[in-house]
Order: sequence, then C-alpha cells, then structure tokens
Amino acid sequence: MKKKIAVLGGDGIGPEVVGAACQILEKANFSLDIEWLPNGEAALETHGTVLPEETKKQCEESDAVFFGSANPPSDPIIMYLRWGLGNYVNIRPTKYYTGAASPLKSPEGIDLVILRENSEGMYTYAEGDLALVQDALPEFRTRHGKSLGDYGKGNFALRIMSETGMKRFSKYACEFAQDRKNKGFPGNITVVTKSNMFPQTCGMLEKAVQEELVDYPELTYTRFYVDDMARRLVRFPDRFDVIATSNLFGDILTDEADEIAGGLGMAGSACVGGKVPYFESVHGTAPDIAGKNIANPTGAILSAKYMLDYLGMEQEADSLEKALKTVYKEGKDLTVDQGGKAGTTQFAEAVLRHIK
Ligand code: NAI
Ligand code: MG
Repeated sequence: MKKKIAVLGGDGIGPEVVGAACQILEKANFSLDIEWLPNGEAALETHGTVLPEETKKQCEESDAVFFGSANPPSDPIIMYLRWGLGNYVNIRPTKYYTGAASPLKSPEGIDLVILRENSEGMYTYAEGDLALVQDALPEFRTRHGKSLGDYGKGNFALRIMSETGMKRFSKYACEFAQDRKNKGFPGNITVVTKSNMFPQTCGMLEKAVQEELVDYPELTYTRFYVDDMARRLVRFPDRFDVIATSNLFGDILTDEADEIAGGLGMAGSACVGGKVPYFESVHGTAPDIAGKNIANPTGAILSAKYMLDYLGMEQEADSLEKALKTVYKEGKDLTVDQGGKAGTTQFAEAVLRHIK
C-alpha cells in the first residue's frame, strides 16, 4: 500500500520549496500517494479559513503531513499540527554537506541533532494583561522580593514546563540518543537550559533527563547554559551529538546551528509523538524572496528525507540524501543563498537527476 502524504504548502516560499521537494518524490516514482490540500492565506480567499475542516480530516487519514511554513494569520495551522495532533518533539538535524556555504573555516564533521520540546515552555500562547495575574496572586513574591503589583501596568507571558511534558520529552530524547549510538554516533545527550536563572522550570528538564538516563547506561550526559551553548555551537559544533532543549531555546539555537552548517534554507525537521507526524523546513515564509523561484528547497527536501525514514522507506531516503550530497559537492546547480545561480526548480531537477 502506498503511504499517504497530506501536503500543506502554507504561505510565502512554503508552497515553492514543498512543491520542489514533491516534484522530486513524484518524478522519482517513490511509492507515495501525495495530495495537496487547501490551507494558509490562499485558502482564506477560497474557503474563508486558513485551515478548512476537510483539510484536517485528510491530514488525520494520512500517514504523514508535509508542511511548508506559515505567516502569523495562518497560525491555526501550526497550532493544529503541534497541539491538535499532539506532536511534542521537533527533531532538527544539522549536518554539513561538502560544498555548502558555511561561514566556518572547518565545518567538516558537523553532524548533530537538536531535539526541541515542541509543546510547552514559552510557546503556551498564555499571554495577557498583567492585571490578571496581579489580581489573582496578590501575595506572590518574585525571587528578588517584588510583588507583581510593583510592576504597575504591563503584560505577561507564562513559561510552563509540566511534569508529564518533561518526562515524555526526556524519554524520547534518551531513546533517540540510544538509537543514534547503535548506529555509531557517540551517544551523548547535551541538555541546554538556563537553570541558574530558572531552577524550577529549566531545573525540571535537567532532572527529568537525568532520571531517564538511569535506564541508558551507555549514554553520557552534559549540561550547558543556553548562552554558553550559543557560543559553543559556533566554536565546537563537531563536538555535539544529541542536544535536548526547551521550546524557545530550541527555536533560536536551531537557526544558529543551521547557519553554521551552510544556511537556514538547508535545514529540515520532523515533528513527532502525536497522532500523525508532520515534516517541515526550519525556516519561515521568507517574504523577502517569496514568489521569485530563488528559495533554496534543501530544507524541504531534507524534511522529505526524514519523512521517508519515518515511513520505513530507508532506501528511498538514502538515495534522496545521496543525490543532494552530490549536487552540493558538484556545486554547479546551487541556489543564490549558497553562492550559486540556480533557481528553486533547477536545484530540484539537479537532485532528481542524481537519484539512483
Ligand atoms: P525566515 O526563516 O522566513 O527568513 C529569514 C531569512 O532567511 C530571510 O532573509 C530569508 O530570505 C532567508 N531564508 C529563509 N528560508 C530560505 C530559503 N529556503 N532559501 C533561501 N533563503 C531563505 O524568518 P523571518 O524572516 O524571521 O520570518 C518570516 C515569516 O515567517 C514571519 O511571518 C514568521 O512568523 C514566519 N515563520 C514561520 C515559521 C513556520 O511556519 N514554521 C517559522 C519561522 C518564521
Ligand atoms: Mg524558528
């Protein structure tokens, strides 16, 4: 049976890069049943909503969702894919491919994965008028002794780490690192927090990972604060294996990691743990280059590779990655962000030519 893929192109360069990746999957005759569904700003005009009910139904009847990226009006798509479907882990690999435009002198050997907790932390969408919490918590004191009323008028955002959330994420991270170790990687988990400032929230993540690690004697553990980690990623990127971190830190560190390996346009990801997984590039809608056929579709192509892996189509995933590698090594068909002249579709055609 062909695996069923629901495609949500999203906005901006989303449909362009996902379209380029789908063209490869289709023309390479991979055994997939790919269906484009109405969504995003385009669907707002045709269907009066960024996420029609029928689109949701089709997603839930699919084996995977392949997603582009969304502008803020299309936020309901992201809320649905993450929270509606329950995908609480975002797997974001960073790997250097020879020929990619890394700003580092020696980027060879960068091959790490950032696991970003995808459902809690700063992304609870729990923001509001500060008066709400001032009225509800008149006795509350901050660690430096202020009452909330001392701040006067303002707004708040809640950062929430739940025990269930941290435990399931830590369990996933350990299983993931062990799987990688079984494939020859070092088997190290680096937990990135700011537990010196946030002992109760960041501290929970550290504790949850350490408790889980008791069952994984082959794995080693390191912990760095996020500011230090930002620096280490630039200086020693080849020293990292699996990095586990909370939502906002993961969002920021993955853009940084991707840039040092060649650029934001090159990064793909998998979001898993829920009813139906979804696969998306790390970048956003890139309004500055949208509609020009110049976006680098590598992030979407790599997301497709992770999707094939997830669906048990390892051979196809492998041939896709090998073809991509060859295009970077040859350097003849690279996109503008990589110092080349090729457009989005020309790059995709070059990848397709190298699929064996
Ligand atoms: P962005 O990732 O869209 O772009 C940042 C920079 O990287 C831009 O200069 C862009 O041209 C470049 N870039 C991104 N992808 C590229 C590609 N494939 N090839 C070549 N260059 C590429 O981030 P930005 O500008 O902060 O946000 C733009 C919009 O995207 C906003 O509306 C934001 O809310 C949304 N966004 C959506 C995300 C999602 O749907 N998952 C994630 C991040 C941002
Ligand atoms: Mg981001």
